[in-house]
Amino acid sequence: MHVTKILSVLFLLLLGLLSACSKDESSSSAGAKSAPAEVSAGEEIYKKNCKVCHAQSINGAPIPGNKSMWEPRAQKGVDVLVQHASEGFGLMPPKGGNVDLTESELRQAIEYMIAQMQ
Ligand code: HEC
Repeated sequence: MHVTKILSVLFLLLLGLLSACSKDESSSSAGAKSAPAEVSAGEEIYKKNCKVCHAQSINGAPIPGNKSMWEPRAQKGVDVLVQHASEGFGLMPPKGGNVDLTESELRQAIEYMIAQMQ
């Protein structure tokens, strides 16, 4: 009886130590985690600049999440797609009409759209 009591006290102590440790860990990394990571930069750029055509396939713009529309585009490689989005491609205006977008912003938006395929 005595031994089990001591053991359970030790067990509780151990639990206390463990939770103290994990608390430390979470508070030290809280800074990195607190950034609003729900919406990626690519998604943000897409919503502001690309969605107006791409969500509804205006003039045939490929819809994110539509595999048969995106697969043949994705096969060209992201570099080519970034170049096409930057210079314009068919009925796609250069940079979707926002000349302020950088190539890296275009890339992020394109990677976001491609990632919607699965
Ligand atoms: C004014 C409408 C419009 C906007 C805004 C628009 N697109 Fe497009 N986009 C199109 C159309 C139309 C096509 C299909 C062009 C074709 O295949 O002839 C297209 C095709 C593309 C393609 C495929 C190019 C290829 O080589 O197959 C990419 C990549 C793309 N758009 C990226 C973007 C990005 C990134 C944005 C936002 C920054 C954007 N688009 C905004 C109309 C638009």
